[in-house]
Amino acid sequence: MKINVWFGITLLFLILAGCSPEKEQSSISLNQPWQFYPGDHIRYPGTEFNDTTRATISPSKPWERQGFKNLDGYAWYRCTVMIPSSLKQQGYFHDTLQISLGKIDDCDQVFLNGKLIGENGMTVYDERDPDTSFAESYGFWDKPRHYLLSVNDPRIRWDEENTIAIRVYDSGGLGGLFDGPFELSMLDLEDYIHFDAASAGFDYGPGNCLTKNFTIENRSSAEGFQGVLSMNVFNTRNRSCLFRKDTLVLLEPGSLNTFSFTIDNIPTSPVSAEVSFTEGASGIPISGILDLPYILTPQVSVYPRINGARVFGVRPGSPFLFKVPATGKAPLSYFAENLPEGLNLHASTGIISGQVNEPGSYFCSLIVENSVGTAKEPFRIEVGDLISLTPPLGWNSWNCWGLSVSDEKVRSSALAMKESGLIDHGWSYINIDDGWEATHVDGKIATNEKFPDMHALCDYVHSLGLKIGIYSSPGPTTCGGYEGSYGFEQADADSYASWGMDYLKYDWCSYFRIAPTPNQEELEHPYRIMEKALLSTGRDIHYSLCQYGMGKVWKWGASVGGNSWRTTGDITDTWESLSGIGFSQGACSQYANPGHWNDPDMLVLGWVGWGPNLHYTQLTPNEQYTHITLWSMLASPLLLGNDLSQLDPFTMNLLTNDEVLAVNQDPLGIQAIPVVQNDFYQIWTKGMEDGSSVLGLFNLTEQSLNLGVNLQELGFGERYGIRDLWQQRELGKVERYFEIRIEPHGARMIHLKKDMKDFVKQ
Ligand code: GLA
Repeated sequence: MKINVWFGITLLFLILAGCSPEKEQSSISLNQPWQFYPGDHIRYPGTEFNDTTRATISPSKPWERQGFKNLDGYAWYRCTVMIPSSLKQQGYFHDTLQISLGKIDDCDQVFLNGKLIGENGMTVYDERDPDTSFAESYGFWDKPRHYLLSVNDPRIRWDEENTIAIRVYDSGGLGGLFDGPFELSMLDLEDYIHFDAASAGFDYGPGNCLTKNFTIENRSSAEGFQGVLSMNVFNTRNRSCLFRKDTLVLLEPGSLNTFSFTIDNIPTSPVSAEVSFTEGASGIPISGILDLPYILTPQVSVYPRINGARVFGVRPGSPFLFKVPATGKAPLSYFAENLPEGLNLHASTGIISGQVNEPGSYFCSLIVENSVGTAKEPFRIEVGDLISLTPPLGWNSWNCWGLSVSDEKVRSSALAMKESGLIDHGWSYINIDDGWEATHVDGKIATNEKFPDMHALCDYVHSLGLKIGIYSSPGPTTCGGYEGSYGFEQADADSYASWGMDYLKYDWCSYFRIAPTPNQEELEHPYRIMEKALLSTGRDIHYSLCQYGMGKVWKWGASVGGNSWRTTGDITDTWESLSGIGFSQGACSQYANPGHWNDPDMLVLGWVGWGPNLHYTQLTPNEQYTHITLWSMLASPLLLGNDLSQLDPFTMNLLTNDEVLAVNQDPLGIQAIPVVQNDFYQIWTKGMEDGSSVLGLFNLTEQSLNLGVNLQELGFGERYGIRDLWQQRELGKVERYFEIRIEPHGARMIHLKKDMKDFVKQ
């Protein structure tokens, strides 16, 4: 019955729309293997060039991910394609052909049948001497490439084979075509009508409701479009409807129109919204799917709970500062047993301070009480050479404020870390990145006008129970062009210590001017100088090396005193960047251990922007779950990069799941290793101090996945109890194998515990 009704409706639609059921192809795919030529040659754009013998490459992944490692500079892509004249009947505008070429890292020139049809970033191309060509590579790499040609353009050969050749220049990093779409199509309505759901974020209204504002822009300055706007919000798993509305709308030429929908409850399982505009005259629909935030972390209980690291390292005689992270109904009272001599715990703030002079391992207990109960947990204080025994959890100003960071923004971020409750889950560092420096005056680094009193700022952050960090470069200038530490290392370290800094990010940047092609000794040298300078201050300063992974820094970062070291270039808030960085961290797993952490760069959740103008992260909710899951499994520093004054319930849910954070903070300090890696899914495992293991299961595809996990194939035994760490819920007992659903680009985090009862029986 259902089938008949649908058949009837479909037929009626086809008759009304005047189409034949055998529709012509609406686009010609270019998502096929292309011929690939590293280097540059005058013959590559031409039609007569013989393509048969060369390497092929997929356009949807950068070339460095397809075996062309360390290839920078020029390379060419070529393909031939038949363009049928029937294509002209497709689309909304029948006079313009569009060539879509995904994105290109960094810049490109596109040739059709030997003739240049467009370019991005390559400002000069001299056919006689390609080597003198000049590429302006900055800022183009993530721009979608669409090239338009009139249907009458003589460069198009209708109903014949056409050669498309793309000359790419990559200034460094991945290189080449990626993402998509790769196709030929007629210019369509969707090329004028643009949905934008990304800029607005989500509004969490009163009574737990969730509102999404989005805009529809009509980019045509001449034509208005009338049609039906449909909004349909549904549970992604069972497709049950949460909201539905159809409205007649007129999109005036050049207009930006705002719409919204509201659902009554913030979802606790995956929910999607399908928004479509169907143009009245043509019946052409344009639609987009948006994934809504959903909250997995259970609400904090009223009972006292002690969160965060179970171990803390300090050097003998250094100032000690640790706020006991704990949740539960306020007010909480804090106590400790067996604290070493020299330390005091403040009963109402939970801040432990003082100093310990005697090296050794101190086994203490922390106790937190409120009107409904008491929590007690062991806490080990290691007084010795090593600090940062668990990865630092905190915030850094770069991914949100960039160079516009100021004293005021740092203070408000510190206050927000405390007042939002993040501090109660172990978040403890507030780090100033680039942009605070003035010049050296009488050999001492001065702060610029945005930071009137660094000492007072440190005191303020410490008074909240938080630690504070700073940034510099071993070169003469920082990456942002401010004064670096070159030649002033000891004086700078002394300044940091006298202000009260607890963390230094030391960023290579202009040290290339000192060592343009550094050998191993030159890579290590500047970091050794600052190591010595920091150690001489008598203050515990977490030493964070930032040189983008050069010379496999994970192998020697610890030997120059590093407590953490960046393993990659800068992250951005895209799936491409996140997954590219995150899933390549297996190479350095074995080098992480307490006091020494691989750092795949800071988090890109919430409101980010790298400057004064912020935007909501472009990562989908599922991608954000992947971000925290993977970074926790990797035992990486977790440094928030978002504006802490705009923390919404979804972001808080990502950052306050104590069972997830406990994986990151596990005292054993092991980094997860990948046990299954393919283009569709990945499985990573992390060993925990108590002998159990955590599995990180990741879906790399854009469809949901039911993953069968064969524990024996992964090297585990037979019987386990499994627990979903995001939901903090037992999933039951399994024998050798279990199946689990993972959302598109999403993750599951499973704690695998040997079932002790069964274990004893065996
Ligand atoms: C480099 C670093 C970033 C940030 C900026 C500051 O790009 O990798 O994390 O510190 O410099 O200029």
